[in-house]
Amino acid sequence: MSNSLAGEKPAIRKDFFSALVLGIETSCDETAAAIVRRTGEGRGEILSNVVRSQIDDHALYGGVVPEIAARAHIAMLDGIVRLAMKDADVAFADLDAIAATAGPGLIGGVIVGLMTAKAIALAADKPLVAVNHLEAHALTARLTDGVPFPYLMLLVSGGHTQFVMARGVGDYVRLGFTIDDALGEAFDKTAKLLGLSYPGGPAVEKAARSGDGTRFDLPRPLLNRPGLDMSFAGLKTAVRVAAERCEPVSDQDVSDLCASFQEAAADVVSSRARRALEQFSQTYPGIEPVLVMAGGVAANTRIREGLNEAAQATGARLVAPPPHLCTDNAAMIAWAGTERLALGLVDPLNVSPRPRWPLDQEAKPMLGEGRKGAKV
Ligand code: KG4
Ligand code: ZN
Repeated sequence: MSNSLAGEKPAIRKDFFSALVLGIETSCDETAAAIVRRTGEGRGEILSNVVRSQIDDHALYGGVVPEIAARAHIAMLDGIVRLAMKDADVAFADLDAIAATAGPGLIGGVIVGLMTAKAIALAADKPLVAVNHLEAHALTARLTDGVPFPYLMLLVSGGHTQFVMARGVGDYVRLGFTIDDALGEAFDKTAKLLGLSYPGGPAVEKAARSGDGTRFDLPRPLLNRPGLDMSFAGLKTAVRVAAERCEPVSDQDVSDLCASFQEAAADVVSSRARRALEQFSQTYPGIEPVLVMAGGVAANTRIREGLNEAAQATGARLVAPPPHLCTDNAAMIAWAGTERLALGLVDPLNVSPRPRWPLDQEAKPMLGEGRKGAKV
């Protein structure tokens, strides 16, 4: 089997059932590599999963700086790939394919990961799989829980907040999205304005533990409107106004503001999830509705509780992969690689990196999509 620069696909076994794939993730501020084995029955096994977070490199700036991210990926990726191979005790010759995030994301970082994958694919004479990072989030629940299609996914991260119907590999329908800030972004901005550390989500959650979530009556934007769209920019602004009224702001005020913010966010997400699940059941009567969570905000206990309530109210099953597989990682990229490989979907070595790459190609562009470039 040999690779091609001209665009024709390398010959690949059509009866592909099991596969060993190296995955590479560099679309934002995590440099990651992983080895995943897919068995003949379509189950997945993570043999290694190495993630190097750049949080410390960006903390000073209160957010991800694209140039710093790209340089850090260049400096770290070779070693991270070597470590993933060593942890899994495999050689390049053992692999069936190399998968890398080809978008969406911060373009400098995506180029570093994709070029590295191309170089390994060429040198080792293995097929390349260019993975959509959002699809990798969407498919993680099949790796961890073997969830069958169709299912509903809520992706809540630093760059995206959207409900997606997953109908098959490469087949997604976007049902609703944020019209302004992503929920993770709202957590981060709320933390910043309250003087909490970066990244804001975990800091807000921690402060909220000793807070009173009923003290501030914050808005639940768009909640009374039909459809599944969401909005979080107004919520963050309401926190700012409430904080200004408290001046000087005490630690207890901060905790109460964080708890009230979390309550409002959980209410919005929960009520939208309930509506999305009802829509799922109308579209697929007789099929057990499953709601899959993905993205960093899925680590938040209060948000999980809200989604649990929505699932219970609609008779649905909530699937929440472990937090380290909800946040950015390369095991999900390797797994998505095996899913595509099983269908013979490989890419030529001249495949382009894509800063924007919506899951649902038919959906109209999202106002709230990709504003941070890649925090997905
Ligand atoms: O999916 P992710 O790791 O990365 C990208 O967005 O690329 O998500 C990061 C986002 C950040 O906005 C972070 O503040 C948020 O997820 N986050 C949380 C929690 N942990 C991470 N938000 C709320 N509660 C958390 N425990
Ligand atoms: Zn992501």
